Amino acid sequence: MSTVDDLKRVPLFSDLSEAELARFAEVAREREYPKNSVILFEDDPGDALYIVSGGQVKVVLIGEDGREVILSVLSDGDFFGEMSLIDDEPRSAHVIAMRDSRLLVLRRDDFQQQIQQHPSIALKVLKVMVQRLRRADAKIGGLVLLDVNGRVAKLLLDLSDESGGPKITRRLTHHTIAQMIGSSRETVSRAMRELTERKLIDVTRREITIRDKDGLSSLAGDRA
Ligand code: CMP
Repeated sequence: MSTVDDLKRVPLFSDLSEAELARFAEVAREREYPKNSVILFEDDPGDALYIVSGGQVKVVLIGEDGREVILSVLSDGDFFGEMSLIDDEPRSAHVIAMRDSRLLVLRRDDFQQQIQQHPSIALKVLKVMVQRLRRADAKIGGLVLLDVNGRVAKLLLDLSDESGGPKITRRLTHHTIAQMIGSSRETVSRAMRELTERKLIDVTRREITIRDKDGLSSLAGDRA
């Protein structure tokens, strides 16, 4: 697939014409990152924006003891690296490939030029940043206000919303879920068992299915 085809699938650029996308494609470089490779290091200076055109990456903070907190998982069409370009501060987090991933990289100057020429891109970046802030707020609320069963319930509901149905097909180990909700693998395994026994979810090797959305919502503290 050509870079223009990749760019067409990126919501950020949905208002651009074919000719504008072609111009964009000329300045975007394509890079491959194998699974587990670090794409951005926290605290490094930032001079480029990245767009995921294949694969999956995680945005993480890593503590001095090596523990990881996953702030977000990004996939096809998502972008990252905009924060350093906007405020000139170092990278706010590590970004690591969870699978072999293909990225489009835009240098700072090219990104800024595009934004100046197409204010609709700036508005879209803003919208995504607001969505990320809402998620971060919800996550802080969950950490303070919910027990682990509630946090797992909330994450599963978010993931099923994302996949548009009761089945969550995104492969997530208990270890990864633990890193997403600030808990340990053992505690997450216990919570998953409990939710299954209470017939709120079904778990197979390939997928997790939401069986009782209202029950999960009430655990997750969502008002009906
Ligand atoms: P930057 O700080 O340049 O480098 C790390 C990137 O991770 C950051 O830009 C954002 O693109 C992304 N990022 C940081 N925090 C979050 C978050 N809470 N949710 C989604 N993406 C994030």
